Amino acid sequence: MLKKNSTKLKKEKFVRFYLNDNLIEKSISDPQQTLLDFLRIDQNLKGTKEGCAEGDCGACTVLIGKVNKYHKVSYRTANSCIVFLPSIDCSHLITVDGLSKGLEELHPVQEAMVRNSGAQCGFCTPGFVMSMYGLFLKTKKPNRAQILNSIQGNLCRCTGYGPIISAAEDLSKSFSCSNDFLIKNNKKWAQKLTYLIENGSKEKENNPNYSIPKNTRELKEVLYHKENSTIVAGSTDVGLWVNKQFKKIKPIVFINQIDELKYIKIYNNKILLGSLVTYSDFQDFVTEYFPNLNEYINRIGGDQIRNMGTIGGNIANGSPIGDISPLFLALGAKMKIIGKETTRKINVENFFIEYGLQAINAKEYIHDFEIPNPKTKQFDFIAYKVSKRRYEDISTITGAFFFEKKLNKKSNVRFAYGGMAGIPKRSKSLENLFNQKFESNFDEKSIEMAIKNDFQPLTDCRATSLYRHRVAENLFKKFLCFVKNIPNIKEV
Ligand SMILES: Cc1cc2nc3c(=O)[nH]c(=O)nc-3n(C[C@H](O)[C@H](O)[C@H](O)COP(=O)(O)OP(=O)(O)OC[C@H]3O[C@@H](n4cnc5c(N)ncnc54)[C@H](O)[C@@H]3O)c2cc1C
Ligand code: FES
Ligand code: FES
Repeated sequence: MLKKNSTKLKKEKFVRFYLNDNLIEKSISDPQQTLLDFLRIDQNLKGTKEGCAEGDCGACTVLIGKVNKYHKVSYRTANSCIVFLPSIDCSHLITVDGLSKGLEELHPVQEAMVRNSGAQCGFCTPGFVMSMYGLFLKTKKPNRAQILNSIQGNLCRCTGYGPIISAAEDLSKSFSCSNDFLIKNNKKWAQKLTYLIENGSKEKENNPNYSIPKNTRELKEVLYHKENSTIVAGSTDVGLWVNKQFKKIKPIVFINQIDELKYIKIYNNKILLGSLVTYSDFQDFVTEYFPNLNEYINRIGGDQIRNMGTIGGNIANGSPIGDISPLFLALGAKMKIIGKETTRKINVENFFIEYGLQAINAKEYIHDFEIPNPKTKQFDFIAYKVSKRRYEDISTITGAFFFEKKLNKKSNVRFAYGGMAGIPKRSKSLENLFNQKFESNFDEKSIEMAIKNDFQPLTDCRATSLYRHRVAENLFKKFLCFVKNIPNIKEV
């Protein structure tokens, strides 16, 4: 263990983390200050760039290392433009400035970019380098698909992606993990971060503008006593309220240090998912339990957003086009909502009341979700996302379809759509139609009528109402092909 006096912590400072090799102890006057502003303005570290300031271009990519349940530091890419500084308390932050020891000694990822002419103007390059480095810390010999996934959230407007991908493929052959400075020193960093976690400062708890509760007991107290707090989990939504809508939010409750809410537990026919499970953690789990959802999750944001955004945040924001909501509606998921003296379990379906209104108050938080376990319960489940761009784009429409066949009884079906109403919503008429006609044939008109009966979608910048109707019908037909094992949609 690290000796107690080996790091002299200043008792009066608030947020503590390591920036590359240096301990930072920072008094927080504005809890909405972004990590990117801190790096570029306070620290004069200009390697990390600002492009879009909304998590879309990857120019600001950094690595955030946190101690995991195996007492190791796991480093994940993040968009520093939408991370607030208190979110990285007790973390190890790696920026592009910390990678090389000057031009003579580039990091292997940077060398590969040079060898393969992976940069022209160079503005996007630090972001690509950090994304690739993040990939190599996670995956020893990534294949092409993994490489492409890792840079989904990075835009380059002049080099073209070919040379950048070649650099990553080149690195895949030559990168030696055993020599890497973060891999070699993982134990040392885990000890340093654990020391910070165990020696938190008192002032954090007393600041009226923000709190960083370390467990759900503290969270309940903070929400109860600080009027109208805003919870921040991954900040992939809240970051945009600040950067794009210029909102002032306080008090803020940063919950991403609460390990209690990061679990995925399997027991019997249920799966419990803590509200702080990130998309990336969810994707790792989905690969085994819901393999046909893998591509669906892969189309949420880019790698940085998947590392930051949580399933709790996705449901809590109540967006009609959040990608997790239709999944949970169709799966018949339940959610636990906890306040200081209350615990409620409700169907996720009942959480969405109307556009902008959800069944939760400011003194409560979402604890976890419960979904059926496909390994102990027989059902068919599939979901589809339609968006203007294939990757790194918000949905136009999503459809999720659950079908549990019951012998000699009415089948259990739930079909849910996102992007068809002010809230994510089930299509009860389509479910009835399915139950009536499943053994026979569906005609186009009855599908159209059922969807019209349940939805009157808007025309907006993403799509017309008519387009949304047509797509909703087609997603249902696609599901029919899936469930009836028909390869070609024309044969329905
Ligand atoms: C570039 C980019 C791409 C994106 N792409 C997609 C996409 O493809 N699909 C998609 O669905 N979304 C997408 N999003 C939106 C975003 O990633 C999600 O909505 C995300 O899941 C929100 O989770 P979070 O942890 O970041 O929430 P935060 O931003 O921290 O919080 C969001 C809201 O939830 C509340 N909240 C968070 N956790 C809890 C809790 N445990 N209990 C109670 N309230 C809580 C907060 O108070 C806030 O109101 C994208 C966002 C960006 C910036
Ligand atoms: S500046 Fe574009 S993702 Fe942060
Ligand atoms: S090298 Fe110019 S934007 Fe990528």
